Amino acid sequence: MNHHIQRLNDKLASAKPSATYKMIDRVAERRAAGHHITSLTAGEPDFDTPSHVREAAIAAIQAGHTRYTQVAGLRALREAVAVKFQRENGLDVGWQDTIVCSGGKQVLFNALTATLNTGDEVIIPAPYWVSYPEMVQLAGATSVIVPCREVDGFKLTPESLEAAITPRTRWLILNSPSNPTGAVYSAQELRALADVLLAHPQVLVLADDIYEHLVFDGAVFHTLAQVEPRLSERTLTMNGVSKAYAMTGWRIGFGTGPRWLLQAMETLQGQQTSGACSISQHAAVAALTGPKDFVQSTRAVFERRRNQVVSRINGIPGLHCARPGGAFYAYFSCEAIIGRYSASGTHLTTDEEIALALLNEADLAVVHGSAFGLGPYIRLAYAMDDASLAAAGDKLDAFFRSTHP
Ligand SMILES: Cc1ncc(COP(=O)(O)O)c(C=O)c1O
Repeated sequence: MNHHIQRLNDKLASAKPSATYKMIDRVAERRAAGHHITSLTAGEPDFDTPSHVREAAIAAIQAGHTRYTQVAGLRALREAVAVKFQRENGLDVGWQDTIVCSGGKQVLFNALTATLNTGDEVIIPAPYWVSYPEMVQLAGATSVIVPCREVDGFKLTPESLEAAITPRTRWLILNSPSNPTGAVYSAQELRALADVLLAHPQVLVLADDIYEHLVFDGAVFHTLAQVEPRLSERTLTMNGVSKAYAMTGWRIGFGTGPRWLLQAMETLQGQQTSGACSISQHAAVAALTGPKDFVQSTRAVFERRRNQVVSRINGIPGLHCARPGGAFYAYFSCEAIIGRYSASGTHLTTDEEIALALLNEADLAVVHGSAFGLGPYIRLAYAMDDASLAAAGDKLDAFFRSTHP
């Protein structure tokens, strides 16, 4: 075998495959071997896309909307996106200030790839969504990981932001509600971060608002450019239909930001995927302009599940789960378990070993916190039906109660 032929791009060679996808592969292997696995790993709603959205897609096919669209998206969708940003986020934008991509992920990827050079730094508060550091790495830049403690609600403080900024800082990535912790930044917290950012005009901000509609306890969602409009000239506000409208497979994300940046992202996308899927774009118009009862009712379902899951976890000796304010993840500490043995005799010395033992010995799939940059924690996605969540609770309970020193 000529190994030279397998040489990869240096940046890709050191990129890690996502820990979540790795766990999903392991689940598939265990299921193929006949095990009945409860998987709480997936970052997607368990609901179907609302029927009026599906019908809009079918109508788009029948009407022959099957050709290439403009790279930055259909005019009708960009107008709907602009209206969404105006009404829901108070941002003063027109359709020309928007871009549509193949998923929220491509918005982020385009923005980072279009702007980063070797030596540039990107501040990423931890715990973080696994893709951020990998995207930064693929763009040839350096991640500056800022740990955010549970006592601070897993949120970036103005002091730690200030300390992380250097002359090489190009971006700060803010994700609220957060994957993996469910942390939601209040308007006051964003205000305090904005005050730091105003003093550092070289820093761009990526606001990943993909879980915007999933906030609980009557809280009101805020985004940075809304709290501090002076930052809008250097903020890319990203969102999409994936989580709010249960449309993960349709691959539609969008953003608004300064035109020079949107233009660069469009140039990049024009040489890569071109415009997002035409049918999905028509479906996204229906989602954004149609009735909002689906968003409201799923939010209520997730809040009820959050309450059940968090209280179940906190009833298990050795576990501790802070109450997440949004998204559909519980991020619980397993610090008191570290060093103990499972009933089958596995020495549990890290959160990764705990997650593996849960899969192999309790048929429950979750993701270890250190994959998101802060251990020892476990992330459990509760975007799953009640019966599965109850089964997962039983499995967690039996597994942890039977650990011993
Ligand atoms: C924090 C965060 N941002 C962005 C995305 C990407 O969303 P999309 O499916 O629209 O690409 C996800 C999906 O898991 C996410 O968790």
